[in-house]
Amino acid sequence: MLALTNTSMGRRSVACLRLLVGLAAAAGVLQVGGQRAPSIAGFLTIDCGLPEQSSYVDPITKIPVVSDAGFVDAGSNHNTSAEYMKPAPELGRGYHNVRSFPDTERSCYTLPSLVPGSKYLLRALFRYGNYDGLQKLPAFDLYLGVNLWRTVNISEAERAVMAEVTAVIPDDSVQVCLVNTGSGTPFISSLALRPLENTLYPQVNATQGLNLIDRFSMGGTSYYPIKYVYYTDGCIY
Ligand SMILES: *[C@@H]1O[C@H](CO)[C@@H](O)[C@H](O)[C@H]1NC(C)=O
Ligand SMILES: *[C@@H]1O[C@H](CO)[C@@H](O)[C@H](O)[C@H]1NC(C)=O
Ligand SMILES: *[C@@H]1O[C@H](CO)[C@@H](O)[C@H](O)[C@H]1NC(C)=O
Repeated sequence: MLALTNTSMGRRSVACLRLLVGLAAAAGVLQVGGQRAPSIAGFLTIDCGLPEQSSYVDPITKIPVVSDAGFVDAGSNHNTSAEYMKPAPELGRGYHNVRSFPDTERSCYTLPSLVPGSKYLLRALFRYGNYDGLQKLPAFDLYLGVNLWRTVNISEAERAVMAEVTAVIPDDSVQVCLVNTGSGTPFISSLALRPLENTLYPQVNATQGLNLIDRFSMGGTSYYPIKYVYYTDGCIY
């Protein structure tokens, strides 16, 4: 069901990720402690709309961030408009620019170099920031391969929407696709992929993924490294 992925498949042939309810704080907290930085081996963090060949290291997490130019063929780059722009770190650099897809119905990122059959967390962030100057908040669909991940419905220009899914990826690459559903132009701010230990999230297997509803930091005092480790999800889809 999560098998990849024929980008020309229509919406009707799509199989949704299976529904699953998880109890947020009850189970499976991964100790992160706050002292030890997580390994970043296999991390891929993409700043969508960053000029080609640009990259930087996130000043707080020290995680390298790259441009999306090598992962997607369609779309165009835009900066957040001046009224929604703030310098980093007040506004994370990932929100300073977006890639938008005005001309394609289905626009896909291909994330390479995966270990087939392994568990991954994928996170996509969307902050509109009036990048097109039109003040038109879009809604569109997000797919993991051929599976509907969720609808992204932007309700405020200022506020970021976060989509996050944990899934077994069968192949050595995976596509994340934005699909225009007639409610405005799809865009994306950033996209991240994190390998997970296969023992984490036993509910996640080859036929079902977990879709994040919310994330809670239990007892931590800082956002980091919690933000980048996988942890206490309440999951439903
Ligand atoms: C976006 O902002 C950067 C940094 O201020 C600037 O160099 C670049 O030309 C801008 N790009 C567009 C498309 O306006
Ligand atoms: C997006 O949210 C708005 C406000 O809640 C709602 O009116 C609209 O129907 C939603 N669009 C989609 C495509 O879900
Ligand atoms: C995945 O888990 C679900 C629920 O536990 C189960 O019904 C399904 O058969 C499992 N799939 C595989 C491939 O193990």
